[in-house]
Amino acid sequence: MIRPHVVAHVAITLDGATTGFAPAVVRFYELAATWAEDVTLAGADTILAQEPALREAPRRPAPAGAPLLAVVDSRARVREWEALGAVGHWSGVLALRAAATPPRPQQAVPELVAGAERVDLAAALAVLGQRHGARVVRVDSGGGLIGALLRDNLLDELSLLVHPRLAGPGQQAWHGAQGRAGAFELVAAEALEQGLVWLRYRVP
Ligand SMILES: NC(=O)c1ccc[n+]([C@@H]2O[C@H](COP(=O)([O-])OP(=O)(O)OC[C@H]3O[C@@H](n4cnc5c(N)ncnc54)[C@H](OP(=O)(O)O)[C@@H]3O)[C@@H](O)[C@H]2O)c1
Repeated sequence: MIRPHVVAHVAITLDGATTGFAPAVVRFYELAATWAEDVTLAGADTILAQEPALREAPRRPAPAGAPLLAVVDSRARVREWEALGAVGHWSGVLALRAAATPPRPQQAVPELVAGAERVDLAAALAVLGQRHGARVVRVDSGGGLIGALLRDNLLDELSLLVHPRLAGPGQQAWHGAQGRAGAFELVAAEALEQGLVWLRYRVP
């Protein structure tokens, strides 16, 4: 079964945190455009962190060729589906859920069912490739989802935008709790403005 190329692009600090600092957002998304992904894959917690801002965000049409947003939401926690579909970043939205996911209250959002208790990430990626024609999936995650993809050998490429600061203890790490053994192969390293460094690795 052929699945899409999966790349995680993540902003981190020198101590590996993905939260607890202000990332260089404009630069981050400029670099994210490198992959021209067909699907942006986000975890529910990443979306929930944006929901207050999403409610206030201006609505605008998405440009031609904008990716689909797929959100791993096994517990049906995401609420702002209408806003996600209308802020102009994505051509549409898709909720990834498991068979045991509770019903969504008064919300109409297309759903992809994969897995029994929790979203089966491998199965979901396969369906995104086969049914939605996704060749490239870019993961937008604070670490939990990246960790799960790494553990299940579903990540092909890792892109780190390293910020020259420390977030301190108690922040989310870029890889979540689970990692993998083996050396990552460096594909590119580029020093950017204001001490930022962009690192791209192929996952073993
Ligand atoms: N620095 C950056 O580049 C960056 C990018 C994006 C977000 N962020 C920040 O990161 C924070 C959120 O990150 P996070 O790591 O807490 O959450 P996350 O990246 O959104 O990942 C959590 C999601 O992954 C799912 N998940 C985890 N393991 C799984 C598995 N084995 N099988 C299926 N699904 C699995 C969870 O499912 P369940 O719902 O079942 O738990 C949940 O939906 C926010 O503060 C956000 O602002 C930073």
